[in-house]
Amino acid sequence: MSLKALFESQPDRRYIMFGGKGGLGKTTLSATSAVWLARQGKRVLLFSVDPQASLSDIFQKDIFGKGPVPIIENLWAQEVDADGRIRAYQEEIRKKILDMYGFDKVPEEVDNYIAAASAEPAMEESAIFDAVVDIIVQGDYDYYIYDLVPLGHALYYLSMAKVYDEWINKITKLREDMGQYDQVAATLRRDETVREDQILKELTYIKDRINASSRILTDRKRTAFFFVLVPEEMIILDTKKAAELFARFDVPISGYLVNRVLPPDLDRMAVPPYLKNRIAMQRKYLGEIREAFGADVRAYVPEMERDVTGLAMIERLAARLFSDGEDGR
Ligand SMILES: Nc1ncnc2c1ncn2[C@@H]1O[C@H](COP(=O)(O)OP(=O)(O)OP(=O)(O)O)[C@@H](O)[C@H]1O
Ligand SMILES: [Mg+2]
Repeated sequence: MSLKALFESQPDRRYIMFGGKGGLGKTTLSATSAVWLARQGKRVLLFSVDPQASLSDIFQKDIFGKGPVPIIENLWAQEVDADGRIRAYQEEIRKKILDMYGFDKVPEEVDNYIAAASAEPAMEESAIFDAVVDIIVQGDYDYYIYDLVPLGHALYYLSMAKVYDEWINKITKLREDMGQYDQVAATLRRDETVREDQILKELTYIKDRINASSRILTDRKRTAFFFVLVPEEMIILDTKKAAELFARFDVPISGYLVNRVLPPDLDRMAVPPYLKNRIAMQRKYLGEIREAFGADVRAYVPEMERDVTGLAMIERLAARLFSDGEDGR
């Protein structure tokens, strides 16, 4: 089934993700799909947490950290500024500490601690994760297209949802079990109980949010995950491995997009041996791709004569990506 037929036959799949190794065309193909869907009259939010601001590059417009920015009719693009999110996080924690403990000013040791904690990679991940949850949980778009960072990272987000979930389950359970002791403690130390209940409330809130987002990301009816690959040996191997891993995290794989395919009719022209070799190499690996992913390949996307930036170029690629067949060879 082609990409076009897939979108048309599964209109409930509104959360679209493009994954794959670095530099293979995730941003290009997510932007192209976003533009195509918007042209079909769907309201689309294309978003990314990539600090390299690649959506800004492809649309030739400053989008970074500005919330949803209108691109064309029905299409908005958003680039999350992770560092900004972390700073906001720090502020929020400071404010909570002030409120909870009734300080006028955050004591210096606590402030140092917050600064150190924010430097942890985990803090960045959770700030990003939180931003993604915000985007997915709110809003009223027909489609949410998530332009993922390179593979290893994407997998990390997904696994984190599971790990977080288990961790929070344990703590919430522990807190609930201790609820009865809290009752006793309540008669002794009222203020303590109030504070503890706040922690439980906070945890339950986080848990609900994570549940909501991981439910969406692994929902077979509403989510479509596409692997982007190119006809090269190592990429095929890595894609196979990644597909197995994603399946283990219950991510529903909707198909494979084979990018940067050299036009096969070049072969019939008088092209230099260099190009002939590359075409022959691609033919070999396209055969392997067909063998490995066969019916799940949704599109073969041609290598364009230059990089894909600006709307005109994106529209040209969209015509190829969403042609009726798989552009099949
Ligand atoms: N079919 C194509 N024809 C010509 N150029 C392409 C094609 N697909 C992608 N490119 C170019 O290849 C480069 C990398 O593409 P892109 O940024 O979409 O990859 P990515 O997978 O998002 O990378 P990253 O992993 O860094 O996020 C870009 O310059 C893009 O314009
Ligand atoms: Mg990218």
